[in-house]
Amino acid sequence: MTQREIAGRKVGAIGLGCMGMSFAYGPSDEAESLRVLERSLELGCDHWDTADMYGAGDNELLLGKALKTCRDRVFLATKFANVFDRSLTSHRDLVSSMAPMIVDATPAYINKCIDKSLERLDTDHVDLYYLHRVDDRVPIEETVGAMARLVEQGKVKHLGLSEVGPDTLRRAHKVHPIAAVQMEYSIWARDIEHDTIPAARELGVAVVAYSPLGRGFLTGAYGSLDDFDKGDVRRNHPRFTDGNFEKNKEIVRRIDQIAQAHGTESSQVALAWLLAQGEDVLPIPGTKRLKWLEQNIAADGQRLDAAELASLDGFTTSGDRYNAAGMAFVKR
Ligand SMILES: NC(=O)c1ccc[n+]([C@@H]2O[C@H](COP(=O)([O-])OP(=O)(O)OC[C@H]3O[C@@H](n4cnc5c(N)ncnc54)[C@H](OP(=O)(O)O)[C@@H]3O)[C@@H](O)[C@H]2O)c1
Repeated sequence: MTQREIAGRKVGAIGLGCMGMSFAYGPSDEAESLRVLERSLELGCDHWDTADMYGAGDNELLLGKALKTCRDRVFLATKFANVFDRSLTSHRDLVSSMAPMIVDATPAYINKCIDKSLERLDTDHVDLYYLHRVDDRVPIEETVGAMARLVEQGKVKHLGLSEVGPDTLRRAHKVHPIAAVQMEYSIWARDIEHDTIPAARELGVAVVAYSPLGRGFLTGAYGSLDDFDKGDVRRNHPRFTDGNFEKNKEIVRRIDQIAQAHGTESSQVALAWLLAQGEDVLPIPGTKRLKWLEQNIAADGQRLDAAELASLDGFTTSGDRYNAAGMAFVKR
């Protein structure tokens, strides 16, 4: 596996998004997920991404099991601020309200979260600690200041921010160097090319691309909403509902044409496209299946020419990246 850098630390160019192993995309299979985690390291995919909210702590517990034998070989990233354990938050006002999403980035909450995450992950430090969503009631300087103290305490090696706009990134970076921004980035989610990516490049901040396969859509593996399990969040996702699934198939067709010409998979074209966007872009495709893990990692060897890359430009995606409540919390 080719390597790329986050804050000077070399990691596999393609990482592993672990969310779906415990949350959002259908049933979990712990034994298979543990095999996926083990195999990922054999293939040089050593950047694992989780968050405290994935499965309300279950995803971190799962990784904790896997990490018992390989902690020193993994670049471990987790996140805090999206509240799942209501007893921990200091924002009592929101907890008691009907708000669909609660974000708490107060220093007091951060201090509780890191200790819980370290306990679940069964480790004494995480390599990259992200603010999952910006809490607009807390100045970013205050949040990052508290995160910086975790670095001083040795609980965290590097700091990251997820779903931030350029101004927030710049302000945060003045308080403490930001190693990475984690943003939705893929062939069908490119708006950060005009704001957050230029700022990240100016500051030398890595761009970790989440949902790089468009939550699976860009792989062409799904033909309609019926392909998703009952509890799958994509059944209610704007890009998959209200007729948008059909409209968005145009991009899948374009990707498929390139895949056929290369004798490869659409998923690999989607990842090769991201890898071609710059050495500072690190996709973290998510999977809980060995077959797809191996397929995704093999995208590292795929190269698209200029005409192929250009043929994937100019597509208008139908549907927002999140529902209205979720959109209120992105790129703050
Ligand atoms: N910072 C944030 O706010 C945020 C938000 C979302 C995600 N993330 C992170 O980003 C990671 C990746 O994003 P994601 O999981 O949302 O989306 P993704 O990586 O774009 O897509 C994952 C979906 O694609 C399927 N898949 C994976 N490889 C495939 C292949 N080769 N062929 C066909 N289907 C394939 C997976 O199926 P199976 O699950 O069945 O394997 C899963 O349903 C997450 O795990 C999480 O760590 C961060």
